Amino acid sequence: MTHLSVNINKIATLRNARGGNIPDVLQVAVDSERFGGDGITVHPRPDERHIRYDDVRALKKIVRGEFNIEGNPTHQPFVDLVLEVCPDQVTLVPDTDGQMTSDHGWDTLKHAVYLRKIVSLFQQAGIRVSLFVDPLLSMVEGSKALGADRIELYTESYARLYQRGLREEAIQPYLEAARLARELELGVNAGHDLDLKNITFLTQTIPWIAEVSIGHALIAESLYLGLEKTIACYKKELLR
Ligand code: PXP
Repeated sequence: MTHLSVNINKIATLRNARGGNIPDVLQVAVDSERFGGDGITVHPRPDERHIRYDDVRALKKIVRGEFNIEGNPTHQPFVDLVLEVCPDQVTLVPDTDGQMTSDHGWDTLKHAVYLRKIVSLFQQAGIRVSLFVDPLLSMVEGSKALGADRIELYTESYARLYQRGLREEAIQPYLEAARLARELELGVNAGHDLDLKNITFLTQTIPWIAEVSIGHALIAESLYLGLEKTIACYKKELLR
């Protein structure tokens, strides 16, 4: 079954809008797991406009399931933080400073030398390493060649095409990339723009997706359904 990692960056964004500690990021993490989430994802960015580095340190002490930290390792403080906190998984993302959200995956061929080094650094610390990639066979092969444990398929184009009713077109590159990853014994995660409408088709078609990390839509859906019910709905969809 595909695991649900709840990305709580949006909770921190809301908190930061006012200063103070409402909503309480740590409490939301505890509750997300209590409501059935299999883990927590955070994406600390260099300007700490969402999750702050100190949040990540505090979360490490309270997250009971999988703790996944996303970010760009070309930012040295990020590397230091991950090595200090030692999460279950680090997902490496090639986002630039100040970028609104992640919008592309790694070029695992062009940056193979750099990535091999950084992947191995984290693995030596006992951290599983996942690389955020577009659904391209060459990028999957490249990830395997440089020693990653998993890939996270960037699902923005899946979500966009799915919304336009083009389900088969949407899923095709993801299915091919995930099949290749499975053949290469590379784990598969998926994330970005997933929601309660598009999650079922993705995970039914590619049931070997190990983990989806979902933030923006899950928090938006919670405004109407509440966090407990929203997480329960995702878990139900992931079981179908
Ligand atoms: N995966 C990665 C690498 C991301 O950067 C993000 C956004 O922080 C997500 C997944 C989650 O995307 P969304 O907020 O659209 O669910």
